[in-house]
Amino acid sequence: MERVALAPFFRPVTPGGRPMSVEMTGFGPLGWVSDADGYRYKATHPVTGAPWPDIPQALLELWTEESGAEVPPDCCLVNLYRAGARMGLHQDRDEADFAIPVLSVSLGDTAVFRLGGTARSDRTGSLRLASGDVCLLAGQARLAHHGVERILSGSSRLVPGGGRINLTLRRAR
Ligand code: SIN
Ligand code: MN
Repeated sequence: MERVALAPFFRPVTPGGRPMSVEMTGFGPLGWVSDADGYRYKATHPVTGAPWPDIPQALLELWTEESGAEVPPDCCLVNLYRAGARMGLHQDRDEADFAIPVLSVSLGDTAVFRLGGTARSDRTGSLRLASGDVCLLAGQARLAHHGVERILSGSSRLVPGGGRINLTLRRAR
């Protein structure tokens, strides 16, 4: 919460100019941003211009225990899904090394998560990510297409004002 006061949620715009339904912020040396200049990692918050707050220690420990990576994450993307927010099917491919996994923690309302293969045309399946679930995209699944189909609004009371928070740890560079 202190970190979100320093780095408030903002609503990214796709490179095509459409506002996303998800609100975002970030922690760590780099934050993921999207605007008319494209998708990229940036050392400062796009609204405040300040460096991002540091990554919470508990998340760094989770990364050490679960990722199998030898390097620490340099980005923790924080996604806030209020009722009705979603995220289209995509791959995480703005990072330098796809051998390093992507690890995320779901908090608050359950998400209906869609997971496919490396090719966009691969068959997809859906699973539910509930509060406390950890999702690791590693190995062959590192470049799997994934997205959030919908949020089961009211399924948790954890997030003030309702909704889901997803914390995604990545090594951008
Ligand atoms: C993402 O792909 O950036 C977020 C995935 C999620 O919210 O579970
Ligand atoms: Mn993603």
